[in-house]
Amino acid sequence: MKILSIESSCDETAAAVVENGRNVISSVVATQIEQHKIFGGVVPEIASRMHAEAISAVVEEALQKADCALVDIDAIAVTYAPGLIGALLVGVNYAKGLALAANKPLVPVHHLRSHIASNYITHPDLEPPFLCLVVSGGNTLLVKVKDYTDFEVIGRTRDDAAGEALDKAARALGYSYPGGVTLDRMAQTGNAEAYSFPHPRVDESPLDFSFSGLKTAVVNQIHNAQQKGETIVKEDLGASFLKAVVDLLEKNTKAALLENPDMKKLVLAGGVSANSVLRARMQNLAKQMGVTLYLPELSLCGDNAAMVGAQGYYEWKAGKRGTMELNASANMPIEEDE
Ligand code: KG4
Repeated sequence: MKILSIESSCDETAAAVVENGRNVISSVVATQIEQHKIFGGVVPEIASRMHAEAISAVVEEALQKADCALVDIDAIAVTYAPGLIGALLVGVNYAKGLALAANKPLVPVHHLRSHIASNYITHPDLEPPFLCLVVSGGNTLLVKVKDYTDFEVIGRTRDDAAGEALDKAARALGYSYPGGVTLDRMAQTGNAEAYSFPHPRVDESPLDFSFSGLKTAVVNQIHNAQQKGETIVKEDLGASFLKAVVDLLEKNTKAALLENPDMKKLVLAGGVSANSVLRARMQNLAKQMGVTLYLPELSLCGDNAAMVGAQGYYEWKAGKRGTMELNASANMPIEEDE
């Protein structure tokens, strides 16, 4: 079963050919990061335009690299939610056009479900059920993956996502978008104990996250230092901020594992799962809790279409199909189906 998959939810235009949900035959990612950097973040209008410009060539390249024509493809999977609406619509409309022209089934795929599925590619033995911490630029969730298409969210962010907080902190320190990877580098040399940050709690829901207070705290630390004429040691502040974010992620993940002793596998997914501090801390946590940790390979942490092909296979097996009425959606809970 070969799936041609398409991803355009944010600032990467991507296409892939994936066999039986696990075997990536080709994967092409065209990133727009350089164009958004000048503005300090993703500009939705630019993203949509660049997806429209790139999508034909990216899909063509994925087919060529897989040595496939459309006739060799069994289904077309596409990210339809959540994400930037104009960006998503480019992929959805392109996939609808291909599906109609080639008379192939269309499979709508939820973006966060596919981030989780990147682990099925990295770990061919991984099967649900498992607990997954999804940490990306736009989302932070603790999810019980009961089956390939059955999800239960047990913790979520009440405000910003972890990646968003890292990007904002890096920006406040004067680094360009996306700053998460810069903070990762700083943490290699910076002193993570040099600056202290609050440890926000959502009292009534201990598995939920809140990152907006941390974001304000880092901006305040920088402004206060400027006003007093003190020098900020950027490496130390970056390392300390990253530690504060990882502390929160680790604390809630541990609480989720304690509350769900049947979950013997812990999985990480999303762009921030590339972070070396988070990966190391989760290794320790897994050891301490007696669970097996699964990390996506670094090339699959960010947005790509291979993960869409992986999840698309399981959605297809579960009978999910998109019609020519399929629409994109900027917000869509992971539990919900089209
Ligand atoms: O999953 P992703 O590519 O996009 C969404 O679907 O949202 O995640 C992008 C986020 C950005 O916030 C970026 O700064 C962060 O992932 N990121 C990292 C690292 N690499 C990417 N954050 C921390 N450490 C990294 N190594």
